[in-house]
Amino acid sequence: MQVIIRDTKKAAVELTAALIAHQLQAKPTSVLGLATGRTMEGLYALLVAMHQTDGLDFSLTVTFNLDEYVGLPPTHKNAYRYYMNHHLFDKVNIDVRNTHLPKGMASDPEEEGVRYDAQIADVGGIDLQLLSIGESGHIGFNEPLSAMFSRTRVKALTPKTVEQNAPLFDTPEEMPRFAITMGVGTILEAEKCVVLVTGANKANIIVRAVEGPVTSMISASALQLHPHCTVIVDAAAAAALEQQEYYRWIFEHDPQWDRFR
Ligand code: GLP
Repeated sequence: MQVIIRDTKKAAVELTAALIAHQLQAKPTSVLGLATGRTMEGLYALLVAMHQTDGLDFSLTVTFNLDEYVGLPPTHKNAYRYYMNHHLFDKVNIDVRNTHLPKGMASDPEEEGVRYDAQIADVGGIDLQLLSIGESGHIGFNEPLSAMFSRTRVKALTPKTVEQNAPLFDTPEEMPRFAITMGVGTILEAEKCVVLVTGANKANIIVRAVEGPVTSMISASALQLHPHCTVIVDAAAAAALEQQEYYRWIFEHDPQWDRFR
């Protein structure tokens, strides 16, 4: 795992966008794993701007999102399908048939999870998986005690996650208590993982995820097992990290970061 600290949220988002652009330029047929949430909104806005001004090309890109709420139709304004269309897919030259999310309205959500993993395998797996971390330590909706080898399936959401996301719904009661999420094992199979975490409200959880022990109580800590995982944080989210000086040194001196400085 590598941790990169950028002073501002803007700089953290810019570096993440640069890594994605680099991936798409190197391999236009890339399979991207995508995330939702407030953290990603600025990133998608920047990718849209890069498409409009620099011609960043999504025409051959295939995407698989991490998760979807159970019971929300794709047209619901809190459905992650709606979010993705609104923030990214409608605004770039991606073929919408190449964009995938678990189907929250599937008549058999467990079967939908099995189908989704098979679909990812059919395209040869994910090249770059984008992630953020919820305050419960989840990646996707892998709440505490999600098995390290778990596959895409239904998970019950913790009170912490409900508290974090319910304000996004018109009435808090409307928020589903279940989601279909890629499993921790599914996520760990991606070729590369890029994790974007910003803001002081994530400072405590990022320490536990990155510098704490690997534990299923903090699903994000499983990323320590991944051979190519880059965590990009702003200074606010990095505030409690023990090895900040080391992480900053790496970004300034390691030649692999030359093109991104
Ligand atoms: C959401 C999503 C996650 C996301 C996380 C962070 O609920 N299921 O994939 O990364 O929680 O959300 P935010 O960026 O709003 O803090």
